[in-house]
Amino acid sequence: MPVITCIDDLKQIYGRRVPRMFYDYCESGSYTEQTFRENNSDFSRIRLRQKVAVDMTGRSTAGTMIGGPVAMPVALSPIGLAGMQWADGEIKAARAAEAFGVPFTLSTMSICSIEDIAAHTKAPFWFQLYVMRDEGFVDSAIERARKAGCSALVLTLDLQILGQRHKDLKNGLSAPPRLTLPNILNMMTKPQWSMAMLGTRRRSFGNIVGHAKGVDNMSSLMSWTNEQFDPQLDWKKIARIRDQWGGKLILKGINDPEDAKIAADFGADAIVVSNHGGRQLDGALSSIRMLPSVLRAVDGKTEVFIDGGIRSGQDVFKALALGANGTMIGRPYIYGLGAMGQAGVTAALTVIRKELDITMALTGVRQAAEISRSNQRHILVPKDFEGEWA
Ligand code: GLV
Repeated sequence: MPVITCIDDLKQIYGRRVPRMFYDYCESGSYTEQTFRENNSDFSRIRLRQKVAVDMTGRSTAGTMIGGPVAMPVALSPIGLAGMQWADGEIKAARAAEAFGVPFTLSTMSICSIEDIAAHTKAPFWFQLYVMRDEGFVDSAIERARKAGCSALVLTLDLQILGQRHKDLKNGLSAPPRLTLPNILNMMTKPQWSMAMLGTRRRSFGNIVGHAKGVDNMSSLMSWTNEQFDPQLDWKKIARIRDQWGGKLILKGINDPEDAKIAADFGADAIVVSNHGGRQLDGALSSIRMLPSVLRAVDGKTEVFIDGGIRSGQDVFKALALGANGTMIGRPYIYGLGAMGQAGVTAALTVIRKELDITMALTGVRQAAEISRSNQRHILVPKDFEGEWA
């Protein structure tokens, strides 16, 4: 096992082991990728305050997210096609999350199905729902999530139409990959990935195949979303889904204080400040930069999580110090998954927890649950983080 010192180590291995098409799918933002880049670079504009001579024994990264205990306030974000990054990828990631004690979110666009995850884990997981035109599909997905004992429904609001990611078009992204000569040649250079993939039957969209009617063009994400996703989604339809689900509801993809206020008044248990990892509206402000104004708009009425750009425990600390109740990570765990399957996801979580813990020690904080906005003296925040749309 190689020595893993940071998330970037996993990314390097991931880049060597996974076919180009899936690496690019993960490592892309839309259009110019400005928002994708700034999600991450804006974290480095926040600085930490060094504190000494504070008893640092008895530290704990534990906390809660939507009322459930977590080993650290870091949940796994829903990621489409994770089962193409590694054979049975969603099962592997869910098992790693369960053993670690953090929530796993299964994407509607996953390769393994809701039932697959339920069969391979004991801990309840979160299910992410995209609202499709086909209400029958939405109804049955909600019922399937209920039957699988999912503890929250994560409704993604920022992808009713797909932002263009140039590399996916150039690579002809599909699941499973088409057996063209360039794809075959590339897969031949990834023997571990290819062997593992040959050993599973899960190679297309497990939540959709056999569950949705008239989905013809599913291997092409762009055509599929254009055909199936409901462009009429509005707060009325969201209310219907909220009432039908009746359980804990997390609204993901909010990057504006006005939307955040509506979501909080709407009774969401949590919102996720997110611009879909910079994969949708290119030019949107980074999620960490929007976090303070969203928090002000929400005014404690709902929990506020954030995703986009988190690559370390230091980033988690910064988000919590700004006032987030929790964080979600996507790419960091995908790097681990593609690098070494379940062990790689565990490695990613381990790295982040260790970094968070050491950062807590060196900033004089013993409990992650205490890193809050009221303790904002732990960080120095650029002025423009207060949010131009506040
Ligand atoms: C799907 O959620 C994607 O960003 O591709």
